[in-house]
Amino acid sequence: MSRRILVTAALPYANGHIHIGHLVEYIQTDIWVRFQKLRGHRCLYICADDTHGTAIMIRARQEGRSEEAVIADMQEAHLRDFSGFDIEFDNFGSTNSSENQELCEEIWAALRKANLIIEKDVTQLYDPEAETFLADRFVQGECPSCGASKQYGDSCDKCGATYSATELNNPVSKLSGATPEVRTAKHLFVQIEQLHDFLTEWTQSDDHLQSEVANYLNGHFLSDALRDWDVSRPAPYFGFEIPDSPGNYWYVWFDAPIGYMASTKAWCKKEGEDFDSWWRADSDAEIHHFIGKDIQYFHCLFWPAMLKTAGFNLPTKVHIHGFLNVNGEKMSKSKGTFVNASTYLNHLDPAYIRYYYATKLGPRVDDLDLNLTDFQTKVDADLVGKVVNIASRCAKFVAGGELSAAYPDDGGLFANAAKAGEKIADAYERCDYNTATREILSLADAANQYIENREPWKLRKDESRQDELKDICTVGLNLFRQIVVYLTPVLPKLAEQTGALLGQEIQHWDDSQTPLTGTPVGPFQHMMKRVDPKKVQAMIDESQEAAAEDAKADAASQYNDGPEALEKEPMSGELCTIDDFMKVDMRVARVIAAGHVEGADKLLQLTLSLGGDERRNVFAGIKSCYNPEDLVGRLVVCCANLKPRKMRFGTSEGMVLACGPGGKDIFLLNPDDGATPGMRVH
Ligand code: MSP
Ligand code: ZN
Repeated sequence: MSRRILVTAALPYANGHIHIGHLVEYIQTDIWVRFQKLRGHRCLYICADDTHGTAIMIRARQEGRSEEAVIADMQEAHLRDFSGFDIEFDNFGSTNSSENQELCEEIWAALRKANLIIEKDVTQLYDPEAETFLADRFVQGECPSCGASKQYGDSCDKCGATYSATELNNPVSKLSGATPEVRTAKHLFVQIEQLHDFLTEWTQSDDHLQSEVANYLNGHFLSDALRDWDVSRPAPYFGFEIPDSPGNYWYVWFDAPIGYMASTKAWCKKEGEDFDSWWRADSDAEIHHFIGKDIQYFHCLFWPAMLKTAGFNLPTKVHIHGFLNVNGEKMSKSKGTFVNASTYLNHLDPAYIRYYYATKLGPRVDDLDLNLTDFQTKVDADLVGKVVNIASRCAKFVAGGELSAAYPDDGGLFANAAKAGEKIADAYERCDYNTATREILSLADAANQYIENREPWKLRKDESRQDELKDICTVGLNLFRQIVVYLTPVLPKLAEQTGALLGQEIQHWDDSQTPLTGTPVGPFQHMMKRVDPKKVQAMIDESQEAAAEDAKADAASQYNDGPEALEKEPMSGELCTIDDFMKVDMRVARVIAAGHVEGADKLLQLTLSLGGDERRNVFAGIKSCYNPEDLVGRLVVCCANLKPRKMRFGTSEGMVLACGPGGKDIFLLNPDDGATPGMRVH
């Protein structure tokens, strides 16, 4: 019976590039989809970019262009990366689409109708300069619990305390450097508690979730009343405005999963397919979501609740995977193990990592480790040394000829491997790719053993034994092809090459069940190279260098000084020589007396010491900003060879250096600690 299966992977955020952590998921899902298609099922792989939210809005502002321009560029980059890894979507859409907006409106109306929406005041930090409310990751301050500095708005990475951003001491906005204000705004909430019974039933039954996930949700969330879910954000926000609540926008996590449907809808329009037959409650289609463990709450509680309320098809299963480590640790930018998809592709064959991840992925939520030494060993030993080796040992003897007309006696090897097919298929179905690849590799071991026993290379020169040679190669190549059929979901390129070699495309899982006979064998072309350790290192080096560059740019972008000062007082553009410059004798001086000047509203009278007995009497126009008593004792810079000038109040014998437009903004120059009066400034 052919099934109709709609498969999704989580929608990647449009504010960052795809990295090898993401690829765990997109490859895992791609393998599952290819497997289902190979089995003859109607299967769709649906994805999209997740485009809304504050982060994109801020990025667009920083880059001085529209959000639409930012997300269009990122979508192009994402698609290039995915196709580089042979990840093939039936549709890759965007959450910023009319289909998505319409579906959001429909689901919203259903939530309203079911009386699930309420309004509540939310107090949040607000950046008065950037004019936006601040998500937790855009604020830093001192931990209210241990005082550690530079902690984000949700939790402290020094002491582990969790708190709300408004509790931080001395908070600073990461956007503008401004001190945030506490402001209150109306938010809309979904009272998800009203679906508690449904969610208990749905999460705990029918294998919708892996058992550890079901247990976790049961123990951590469903054992208490479910908290209302805040689904709106006040303007400014990049997203869809809520039709019955002007000035408020749906929070990105409200419209993101609806993006699964919207992308399906876009595909339906393109293909003339019926959307309802996939997504309405009475649909016979299966829906499978693949996601990482960090976003299970959204997919296992909110999402089914929304679907249920609005009369849509519920997920058949949410498949949850763990996180990627590299060499036993979290991916690290400074170590160069935070590798972008495009960086990987600059150096290595995508088949390597597709295979390696497959060997590491099981049906559970465990994290997986990409150990770079093991990566090389495994790819070399398994793919090159065992699988491809079968073909390279046989094909050259029959290249340009054909396979034997009848399938020779192979001692039951082909039949055994054909029988193993169901076990392998079952492992794929359960997302137990580790078991699937292990089973397949044991078939490769048996095939290699056969070739070693029969030693075809010894028959090559013996005219009388050419039929025997052909039979051995017919067996070898058929065992190879059978293995490649089983590996097709993991290694689509190898499947294509094998199809070309044997003149028959691999199209169906059942191609593993009958051997080819009498068909032509094409020229043998190299199928896969060993992993070059130098290239692995080059990939790490490139990632490390790129991260160092980013860190520099990040640090520089903290200082977003405006152009106002230069605009107010443009530079003269006229050059001076060093001699011109040296004509002005500037010295460090100490203010040893300061006072008001009778009858002058702008001036202070200063006595400057240049050290020893050298004194200057100076009238400085700084009264609007400085009290005489605060100046006594401090160091300033003065022009010491300015011609004395007679003024109404006395003679001014120099000038103290200051900057600023005047009025309340005058800033005296101050030498760094260690300077002493009399030192020349140059
Ligand atoms: N935009 C949300 C998903 C919305 S779905 C309606 C999001 N995006 S993401 O870009 O941060 O992550 C996309 C997927 O990649 C998530 O399922 C996430 O768990 C997964 N991974 C991101 N980093 C990962 C690792 N380091 N390791 C394994 N999976 C990782 O979340
Ligand atoms: Zn702390």
